[in-house]
Amino acid sequence: MNPESSPFRPGQPVPIEFFVGRLPEIERLRGMVNASAQGRFKIGFVCGERGIGKSSLVAFVRHLVERDCDVAGCHVFLGGVQDLREMLRRTFDRILKESIDKSWHQQLINLFGNRVSKVGLFGVTLELNLAEGDLSAMERDFVPSVRQLLESIKEHKKSLLLILDDINGLANSESFANWLKSTVDAIATSQEEIRLCILVVGLEERLGELAGKQPSLARVFELIDITPWSDDEVAQFYQQSFDAGGAEISEELLKGLVRFTGGLPVLAHEIGDAVWRTARGPTIEKNEVLKGISTAAEVIGRKLLTPQIFSAIRSESYRSIFRKMAGEPRTHFRRAELQKLLTDAEKRGLDNFLRRMTNLGALEKDPEVRGGYRFPNLLHALYFSMESQRRRGEE
Ligand SMILES: Nc1ncnc2c1ncn2[C@@H]1O[C@H](COP(=O)(O)OP(=O)(O)O)[C@@H](O)[C@H]1O
Ligand SMILES: [Mg+2]
Repeated sequence: MNPESSPFRPGQPVPIEFFVGRLPEIERLRGMVNASAQGRFKIGFVCGERGIGKSSLVAFVRHLVERDCDVAGCHVFLGGVQDLREMLRRTFDRILKESIDKSWHQQLINLFGNRVSKVGLFGVTLELNLAEGDLSAMERDFVPSVRQLLESIKEHKKSLLLILDDINGLANSESFANWLKSTVDAIATSQEEIRLCILVVGLEERLGELAGKQPSLARVFELIDITPWSDDEVAQFYQQSFDAGGAEISEELLKGLVRFTGGLPVLAHEIGDAVWRTARGPTIEKNEVLKGISTAAEVIGRKLLTPQIFSAIRSESYRSIFRKMAGEPRTHFRRAELQKLLTDAEKRGLDNFLRRMTNLGALEKDPEVRGGYRFPNLLHALYFSMESQRRRGEE
């Protein structure tokens, strides 16, 4: 069907009306924002693997609290940022930019004064030019700076939700860890309240790295761990999306889609979109689902895997073993189980194959199971099963 009318959005933020699930996490985050709006400072770490929906969740929560409460939200994407000053610069620049169509915009322009300049062809984009001196003041006096900002917009909004998304590059920065710690301490020891909620978003490993730099940080954060969708949520997502596009899919085919999605929203969009493009009419057929899964595998493989893994699983010597290893969607297996499925020639290549995949980080030994292996990354595991399905289709 026409790709233009696809209800799926691979690689893009999900529109509010297509957002599925996450009710407990939404409630928790909303609770934090509400508490902060009453003067109790909150700081959370939203973690989970890539593509699981961290950014979408915090964006959704932000939308809800901005709509329902006196909260100004600011969502800063810090992918690639490695130093604290750059993070501060982007944060305040974002606060300014996001206020453009809001009622408190003028207050911010007044607050930042001549540091604001108009840029862009039509002068419609604003930029905040902060000098080194400004940045070091903000680093030192972040809490008073936020207080001042809130004071200036208090006729319109009472509290600030600051989302620091994708802090992966900052997790190793000592100055970022120290800054977080001293910000939290400054708030804790201050007599004055601050209506601020900070949500830091990143992979779980990053929390470990931050805590490695500044051990007390581990206790500071409220942890919000995002897990895969349940099968029901995945089914709901597909059903809702196909409905919205005016297409129909049978219960049985829906189950097949759910199995290959493994609860990962990023895969749901990729697979859904591929099925949509493959389908010839509004009733989705079995061969279209299979073809869709196989196309999505191709796309995801190229986006996701390192070239070394990509070529290893496609190489002449390994691909038949690979296909048997990944024949079913699964997250772990035993060497002995896999061996049973192999021909004599394949058996001889098995240990080399396992070693190569382990060296590339696509597999790891399961310390709890003798002869056990597991996929460290769920997205890899699911991709492998889709890829294996694709091969079967080609034979
Ligand atoms: N709750 C959800 N409902 C619908 N789609 C979602 C949901 N969460 C994530 N997605 C989709 O999945 C993909 C990955 O989500 P994203 O929030 O970018 O993940 P992360 O930030 O964890 O890497 C995006 O295309 C997004 O639109
Ligand atoms: Mg993200």
